[in-house]
Amino acid sequence: MAKDWDLIITGGRVFTPSGLVEADVAVAGGRIADIGKLDAAKADEVFDAKGLTVLPGVIDTQVHFREPGLEHKEDLESGTRAAVMGGVTAIFEMPNTSPATIDAAALNEKLTRAEGRAWCDHAFFMGASAENAENLGELERLPGCCGVKIFMGSSTGSLLVPDDDTLRRALRSIRRRCSVHSEDEPRLKERFELVREGGKVAQHPEWRDVETAVRSTKRLLRIAREVGRRVHVLHVTTAEEVPLLAAAKDVATMEVTPQHLTLAAPYCYEELGSLAQMNPPIREARHREALWEAIRLGIADVVGSDHAPHTLQEKQAPYPRSPSGMPGVQTLLPLLLDHLNAGKLTLERLVDLTSAGAQRIFNIAGKGRIAVGYDGDFTLVDLRAKKTIEHDWLQSKSGWSPFEGKPITGWPMATIIRGHVAMRDGELLGGPTGRPVRFMETLPQGAGA
Ligand code: DOR
Repeated sequence: MAKDWDLIITGGRVFTPSGLVEADVAVAGGRIADIGKLDAAKADEVFDAKGLTVLPGVIDTQVHFREPGLEHKEDLESGTRAAVMGGVTAIFEMPNTSPATIDAAALNEKLTRAEGRAWCDHAFFMGASAENAENLGELERLPGCCGVKIFMGSSTGSLLVPDDDTLRRALRSIRRRCSVHSEDEPRLKERFELVREGGKVAQHPEWRDVETAVRSTKRLLRIAREVGRRVHVLHVTTAEEVPLLAAAKDVATMEVTPQHLTLAAPYCYEELGSLAQMNPPIREARHREALWEAIRLGIADVVGSDHAPHTLQEKQAPYPRSPSGMPGVQTLLPLLLDHLNAGKLTLERLVDLTSAGAQRIFNIAGKGRIAVGYDGDFTLVDLRAKKTIEHDWLQSKSGWSPFEGKPITGWPMATIIRGHVAMRDGELLGGPTGRPVRFMETLPQGAGA
């Protein structure tokens, strides 16, 4: 006889909207069906979570998976595999692929490629350009799209909205919250002279300095207010932007990355060379401490990994030709758990920054909390496990992490996506069954471009 539930997770401490409770959780048809003291005999599959903490599935809202076009660095299969191994149940992927994701065809191409190859749920950003600025309001609402991404400063790839007029045009068209890489392009160009003839990677935060970020974020907030739109400032790196963003909660949300919360200049460049090079850069410790303060005070809304893989060989090019970015989707949660154990953040903050925050910012449908009716997405962690980030555990095609060899307290022990156990004790299970993430603001199927 068919049982009531497909899966029951028993004996764990479950992070529910009512708090952390000892409870069983049942999943049927991919959705959470019940929470409480439940009868395990009513489920086909029983997952014994004794000793584990059951968190809402971790959502990484900023990754670069390089497919199509740059699959030697990463592809949708390897990137999502890394995600699932690190306890991540859903990812939002950036548009600076080749070709860039700037129209409906490119978005559909990514969705098609992800089918049967993605290990976790996924959505794709639509890149803004001068050419598609007026169409963004339609494009951002296509199924499988998590919103628009604007690069105000040049980074990897050619997507760019360098001037106020194009920014205004793009934002006017956009209705959803728009994600922005905030570095001021004119100042970046001007200051490139500092390193053009060959500099040291330790100068990266000098070229892309604090003023470059602050100037851009001020422009962005001014124009967002002027046109009445909401923005999401990605990978904030400076102490100076934190009060600006705290005073702009009417229009702006804020992302921080584990890299900027963990590493600091100049040591990271001495130890890691160009492996520590990313945009915006890792800065001195005072900025790192300000980002922690933003987390403590609730100003930061979400943690995204900015997983940006490049091969070690590419990274060896002399600075400034060495590419910016480092892999991170697999280490996002272990690093945060380690910081939690070091007293840098609470479990409540960790959950908000990795699931509920993502849901709020992007209006995700049916994810971001453990509640009846929501997707059966869970990240099961052992808060006390002691492990080391080992080379062999890493799944990214790029084959490295700046955190290799780092001892960690707290570890993802299982990743469950819509009731399917995708990873358990470091082993992948079943196949890649990821699906597009659903959003409240998506056009009904068949509508739009
Ligand atoms: O360091 C970075 N790398 N920052 C970005 O904004 C892009 C990313 C990449 O795609 O390599």
